[in-house]
Formats: sequence, C-alpha cells, structure tokens
Amino acid sequence: MNTFKNLSIAFFNFFFILFIGFAHAARFDITNNCNFTIWAAAAPIAGGRQINEGGIWSLEVSPGSSGRIWARTGCNFDGSGNGKCQTGDCGGLLQCKAYGAPPNTLAEFGLNQFQNLDFFDISLVDGFNVPMEFSPTSGGCTNGIRCAADINGQCPAQLKAPGGCNNPCTVFKTNEYCCTSGNCGPTNYSKIFKDRCPSAYSYPKDDATSTFTCNGGTNYKVVFCP
Ligand SMILES: *[C@@H]1O[C@H](CO)[C@@H](O)[C@H](O)[C@H]1NC(C)=O
Ligand SMILES: *[C@@H]1O[C@H](CO)[C@@H](O)[C@H](O)[C@H]1NC(C)=O
Repeated sequence: MNTFKNLSIAFFNFFFILFIGFAHAARFDITNNCNFTIWAAAAPIAGGRQINEGGIWSLEVSPGSSGRIWARTGCNFDGSGNGKCQTGDCGGLLQCKAYGAPPNTLAEFGLNQFQNLDFFDISLVDGFNVPMEFSPTSGGCTNGIRCAADINGQCPAQLKAPGGCNNPCTVFKTNEYCCTSGNCGPTNYSKIFKDRCPSAYSYPKDDATSTFTCNGGTNYKVVFCP
C-alpha cells in the first residue's frame, strides 16, 4: 500500500517536473517612463537594477514562480550595492532579497497556477510611490491593469510619507486597516485609493475587483509612469 502510494507520488512529481520543464519562461519588460531614475526591484526572482529615464530591464521569469516587482526612488548605493532608498527600500541592498518597505506600488504575480493560469495584480496595500501599468504583451490576453492617478498629490495628510503615500496599516497599525485576523472590509482610507485606481488592491481582502488572469506562458510589461 505504502509502496504504491510512494510510487504514485514519484510519478506525479516526475510528470509535474516534466510539465514545468517544458513550459516556457515568461518575459517581463520593466520600463521606466518617469522623468527620474528608478531602482526597480523584483523579489525573489531577480534582485534589482537601476533604470534611468526611458530605460528598460527585461527579465526571464521561470514557469511556476511568484513574486513582486516595484519601483524604488531616491536611492544611493555604493559600488558594492549597499545603500538606501527613500521608498521601497529592501534592507539597503541594490539586489533585493526581501520585499520593500512601504510606501511602494506593487506588481504581484503567480505564474502557471490553478488551471495553468497566471494570476496578477497591482496592489496599493503597501501604499503608493510611483504610478504603474502591468499588462500582458502576448497570447492575445487583454487584461491589462493600470494605476496612473496622482495618488501622491492627493494623499490624505495622515498618510503622507517622503516620496509617497502610505497605506493606513503602516500608519495606524490596527486590525481594521491591517486585517491580520477576521474578515475586513473597505475603510475610509482604502476608498480614497479605490476611487483613483479601481483595478488595484486597496485593502487586503479586495480580491474580487483586483485579481486578473491570463493563460500561462503569457509575457508581460510593467511600466512605471505609464
Ligand atoms: C517631471 O515631470 C513633471 C510633470 O510633467 C514636472 O512637473 C517635473 O518638473 C519634471 N521633472 C524633471 C526633473 O524634469
Ligand atoms: C477615517 O476614519 C478615522 C476613524 O473614524 C478618522 O480618524 C480619520 O480622520 C478618517 N480619515 C479620513 C481621511 O476620512
């Protein structure tokens, strides 16, 4: 009985690895359309890179991977890649190993998930620093999303942060905003984000209007200041 079960698991793993092995890497083109330098970060898939105004960073992302891409602003790094950023800083490293500090606008994704679909979103749950577009560029998928509103300029006074607009959880640290337990709804602050960027996550349980899918194998672009 146990041998049979182990054998089935072995077969399952074999075919799963075969499937993942044959699936194509997805290409992510990260473009900086802002008129200032961005230090883009992609964790845990690729670390980070400085992107000058108009520059582009192309990544090959392995099938089945999940992660997030965000912009860091106001950074200074030394020759060995140690320093600090005003927004989105990941422990002072140019090559991010961990996620960034709020406020930072997030492009989040999980490739080849349930039914081989890619799931992706733009999230303001960690606040907002730079306007963003996150769109498919292949496979005929039309589920592009963007959050291009001037949220920094319209940020409520209590949430204002250097270089961005904080999420209320970071500022007030209460369960109403952080939603670490229970089922939380929108708040007066999340509504300010949702009014300006209807297709982006505005609070932790905002899945219904904020999660998008394309078929696995699709390529994407992330554009800062679209
Ligand atoms: C960047 O563009 C904004 C908006 O168009 C403008 O207000 C700002 O002066 C520009 N900054 C630089 C450094 O060119
Ligand atoms: C949101 O609600 C809280 C608690 O009622 C209040 O203190 C705060 O001023 C409100 N903020 C805005 C922007 O409406």
